[in-house]
Amino acid sequence: MDIVVSGIRSTGRLHLGNYFGAVRQFLGMQRTHQCYFFIADYHSLTTHPDPAALRASTRQVLIEYMACGIDPGKAVIYRQSDIPEIPELYMLLNMHAYVGELERVASFKEKVRKQPGNVNAGLLTYPVLMTADIIIHRARWVPVGKDQEQHLEMARNFVQRFNRLYGTDFFPEPYPFRQSDGQMVKVPGLDGSGKMGKSDGEAQAIFLSDDPTLVRKKVMRAVTDSGPTTENAPIADTISHLFQLLELVSPPDVVQHYLDTYAQCSIRYGDLKKQLAEDIIAFLTPIQEQIKVLEADEAQLKRVLNEGAEKARQSAGYTLRTVRELMGFNT
Ligand code: TYM
Repeated sequence: MDIVVSGIRSTGRLHLGNYFGAVRQFLGMQRTHQCYFFIADYHSLTTHPDPAALRASTRQVLIEYMACGIDPGKAVIYRQSDIPEIPELYMLLNMHAYVGELERVASFKEKVRKQPGNVNAGLLTYPVLMTADIIIHRARWVPVGKDQEQHLEMARNFVQRFNRLYGTDFFPEPYPFRQSDGQMVKVPGLDGSGKMGKSDGEAQAIFLSDDPTLVRKKVMRAVTDSGPTTENAPIADTISHLFQLLELVSPPDVVQHYLDTYAQCSIRYGDLKKQLAEDIIAFLTPIQEQIKVLEADEAQLKRVLNEGAEKARQSAGYTLRTVRELMGFNT
């Protein structure tokens, strides 16, 4: 059976970008595939959180994963830092990862531009750790959003290189999950300027834990244009973010209504925003109810992490033993 791995950095609360970019795909796959879902707490160290913040956000991510429906009865849920085989594989892979190729990664170049005072080695080798996360279970499928496409390309490079160097086909090449139209998901922010959840744009993201008042406030402040002026024009880039969000959370007839009124130039963006806010709230309500239940169930959270770590280590241990042997250790 094909193996699936995905993870989310423990940088705090999940937003709709995380949900529709990664979690939703995973929910479908956990019934049909052998799935591993983890909290990437090592990855979040690149921004130096203090220990209390790291602990709190790791717990929060676990709660929100489960509240979305990731089911420890179907998928293995664990913390990256509970699996020592991952950093060992990362170290081994680093020996075959070249500084030049790592420096060309778009997310690294962006970090260099945005935080020149903190260009640490962990940032440079971020795609190597991500590769270790994926191939530690020999995964073939990785449900991630569009922003992770280049990281997966790197993972395939590292896998090909390893297999070639050691004359093996032990690691399958990992591919991102794609929608039926072949695209990867990119959820826009409310300001329309990029992806939801950019580190510098909290106000343009809707978090799963945002209460109804906050959702309404954020959506009503969303950026719009001055409206269509010619009939049957395609949706302008300056408003497409709101239509994309509507398509994620609203029933098809509602989406069609706003597409029709846009085409007829009779659309009122105020109405569209009100509808969008209410549909987001309806989408979030059951998740928030589950968040409350899980927040009060410390015993269950502990049990999930303990059992997850045990299962993940079985699979990781097998991979690492094989890798060490292939590389000439333990022989
Ligand atoms: P992270 O924590 O930034 O995001 C977690 C997941 O959410 C997706 N995502 C989005 N998808 C669509 N539109 C958006 N606006 C949006 N924002 C976030 C991301 O694509 C991702 O799938 N490096 C990863 C975490 C990671 C990982 C891994 C993932 C570490 N190791 C191994 C898969 C496999 C990251 O920073 O994701």
